[in-house]
Amino acid sequence: MTKRNILVIGSSNTDMTVKTRELPRPGETVLGGVFTMGAGGKGANQAVAARRLGGDVKFICKVGRDIFGDNSIAHYEKEGLDTGGIIRSDLPSGVALISVDEKAENCIVVASGANADVTEADIEASKEAIEKCGILLLQLEIPVPAVLKAAKMAHEAGATVVLNPAPACPLPDELFKYIDLFIPNETELSTFSGLPVSDAESAAKAAAAMQAKGVGKLIVTMGSKGSLICEGGPEVFVPARKVKAVDTTAAGDTFCGALCVALSEGKPLEEAAAFATAASALTVQKMGAQDSIPFRKDINL
Ligand code: RIB
Repeated sequence: MTKRNILVIGSSNTDMTVKTRELPRPGETVLGGVFTMGAGGKGANQAVAARRLGGDVKFICKVGRDIFGDNSIAHYEKEGLDTGGIIRSDLPSGVALISVDEKAENCIVVASGANADVTEADIEASKEAIEKCGILLLQLEIPVPAVLKAAKMAHEAGATVVLNPAPACPLPDELFKYIDLFIPNETELSTFSGLPVSDAESAAKAAAAMQAKGVGKLIVTMGSKGSLICEGGPEVFVPARKVKAVDTTAAGDTFCGALCVALSEGKPLEEAAAFATAASALTVQKMGAQDSIPFRKDINL
């Protein structure tokens, strides 16, 4: 099988997670439970997911000249990612403070550090990797000008450009025309389309509005309900698996990484979404971000 190679450009964080009965309200202190520290960051999670699930993956990110940066690079190398394009910054490595409640919902604050230091010049310096990739997978935890430049370069070089627009932030309209596949959740889709999204019908309307702005296809992730594929014709709903979730952190990242692997193997979008659904169902059953991402052998289709 000829596989297209996947390039992920995005964030790298160290996640510090506390399990708690309830998420604190503003001004409130709650006594939580177990504390864990592990590898995270939407970019890194998606790159690791794509690699563990069988992709040929290069990961470009920016980390600090500190112990977190050293550990992250060593970890990515152990995972089998091509780390040749990782850049060091004078800012500290990214850190995410995460609380996870009994319903598996989380609350995340990211200290972006080096992630916020990814510049257009860094993207220009990564030109060869961008122009050689089959699929470019992006998120929004690095600055938008860098995302825009990478998407434009990859689009012009003929790659498939995939954007997971998380966390949502203002985007220039120009970006949308470079995006072949847009993977928002319901809240993000509502933000970018300006339309309410609460179910498959409203998601389909909002997806059409995004296509009018220039994006190619969409897969709207709808949490425990499933995901909606919008290719322009009749939408296809892919139901989620019924599992007992303990931590939803990195479920969306696993979905995106898995989806790109299936696409890199030439699978149609519906089959790719079924594969991604099976992978993310495993992620939510374990605590942590990368600690919970499954391997190809674990996927039961
Ligand atoms: O999507 C989950 C990720 O968001 C976490 O790993 C955390 O680092 C934040 O970037």
